[in-house]
Amino acid sequence: MFRQPSRLDALLADAQNAVQTVAGRPQAERPNPGNGEADLVLDAPERRHAAGLMRINHVGEVCAQALYLGQAAVARDAATRSHLLHAAQEETDHLAWCADRLRELDSGPSLFNPLWYAGSYAIGALAGLRGDGWNLGFVVETERQVEAHLDEHLQELPVADARSRAILQTMKADESRHADAAQAAGARKLPFPIPAVMTAASWLMKTVAYRM
Ligand SMILES: [Fe+2]
Ligand SMILES: [Fe+2]
Repeated sequence: MFRQPSRLDALLADAQNAVQTVAGRPQAERPNPGNGEADLVLDAPERRHAAGLMRINHVGEVCAQALYLGQAAVARDAATRSHLLHAAQEETDHLAWCADRLRELDSGPSLFNPLWYAGSYAIGALAGLRGDGWNLGFVVETERQVEAHLDEHLQELPVADARSRAILQTMKADESRHADAAQAAGARKLPFPIPAVMTAASWLMKTVAYRM
């Protein structure tokens, strides 16, 4: 017998995603863009630096998953909810690719991923409670900020790290598309000081995640 998914079903699905994102091994639907590039040998400082940057990008994707699911949990309109869930699905590819590259660089994800996830889920739900225009505005701001830091990382990566660079280039194109789609779906421009607070939070995340 078919029944409508309940609030509890949705919460359980979110909890399952949280565990899978933080402790599991999420599977990408698309092939890893880095696989087409040669795996050149990096010296130890280069490898550490590349791993620090890719760990930041991995945390960014953990946060994206959590934000979008937190927002979807409180979205009022079914179209907004499905927009958010679809965006979260695409972020899973990014998450898996960054995790693959971290392993290749003999490194691993941030120790604080459970914290980043929980904080981002709460922020997403709070933003979503303000209404669907805000919800989509939050997606636009998040994606634009991620796009800007991907640009920085594309400059900062060691020249020889073509595999990480290919991953970030594909992610940047995806994030830009996510922002445009949310804009087209009716995003509101977030008022001051929210974008500034988001920039400060992401600065903190980047500073910590580069190291551990
Ligand atoms: Fe992403
Ligand atoms: Fe995105």
